[in-house]
Amino acid sequence: MIPSVRDIGDVRGKRVLVRADLNVPIVSDVPADDFRLQRIVPTLSFLREKGARILVVSHHSDRGQSLQPVANRLSGYVPVSFAGDVLVGGFLETLRKSAEGSVFVGENLRFHSGEEKNDLFFGKQLASLGDFFVNDDFAVSHRAHASVVTVPTLLPSFAGISFMEELEHLNDMFDPPHPFLFILGGGKAGTKLPLVKKFLAIADHIFIGGAPANNFFQGLGYEIGRSLADEPNIDILPLLKNPKIILPEDVVVSSGDTNRVTFPTQVVPEEKISDAGPKTIALLQPFIQEAHLILWNGPLGEYEREPFDAGSVELARSIAESGVRAVVGGGDTVALLGRIQLVHKFSFVSTAGGAMLQFLTDGTLPGIEALKK
Ligand code: 3PG
Ligand code: MG
Repeated sequence: MIPSVRDIGDVRGKRVLVRADLNVPIVSDVPADDFRLQRIVPTLSFLREKGARILVVSHHSDRGQSLQPVANRLSGYVPVSFAGDVLVGGFLETLRKSAEGSVFVGENLRFHSGEEKNDLFFGKQLASLGDFFVNDDFAVSHRAHASVVTVPTLLPSFAGISFMEELEHLNDMFDPPHPFLFILGGGKAGTKLPLVKKFLAIADHIFIGGAPANNFFQGLGYEIGRSLADEPNIDILPLLKNPKIILPEDVVVSSGDTNRVTFPTQVVPEEKISDAGPKTIALLQPFIQEAHLILWNGPLGEYEREPFDAGSVELARSIAESGVRAVVGGGDTVALLGRIQLVHKFSFVSTAGGAMLQFLTDGTLPGIEALKK
């Protein structure tokens, strides 16, 4: 059991350090997607109502990217002020003297090398800013970074409201209602195979699309041309024989400006598998309709590039229309759902990408273990 922020008790006037995910796509200095920002509002509002003095700390994957534009955007949901680098002189006093319910946002933690190195001194400096720590960033909790794993060992620590929600939904995947359909696509093929292996014991059917499917085609001895695939990190042969696994029946291949639909056995060396074909999407329909739970991570093709988004878009629509309980995750999948405005049609959309896959594979994350200590 990990302690929830709802049990934090009386924090009036106390300083609460909140680890959040402000790692959002930024285009021309403007955040391009508010999905993650909206998800931290419940925890911030909860702590504000309790009269805490709040400091939000986060990272951006781009080590040179300031979080100022993200803080500005967040202020559309909760009143916040951007504090810049909170580790340089004077900020602690500002926080101490601030009004109860104030929210400050600190600069990108990855400006300091100590964050990613999980440097103890850096962790102590961060922890010295708060009386309490709340991790509401499930999506970064697979990283053993200072703000994720060291700070919680130094302060009374709790999981935030969104963090708890992520855990509850993803924990259900280990003991699901049946039939349970798992759909796995996206890039980074080889690293996802241990997850496939694990879910063969849990799911009734696993549909493999995207780059992981290319690993299977290779394992079957098919030509995959210039398709995305990387070294499988486990032996794929036992997986190939498992009847629970469903592979694309047809694929859309591209070569220069041309594309065609073909069988996976008919790809030529100059071609690249860029999407699942229409027969494949049709083949999936009965599995979707009969499912009592669907878990989907990773698009089926190059969803950013028309017309190779068609397979993923059709799949998203079919799941949305089926009304089946569906849990979705992965940055690309969520970006696709945002673009076609289907996010609200899914039962739960995880903010996590890598963290979701690692949680499903290992059943825990470094950031979860740190909260238990
Ligand atoms: C994510 O977007 O996956 C998390 O915010 C973690 O970011 P990272 O992949 O740069 O560590
Ligand atoms: Mg990531």
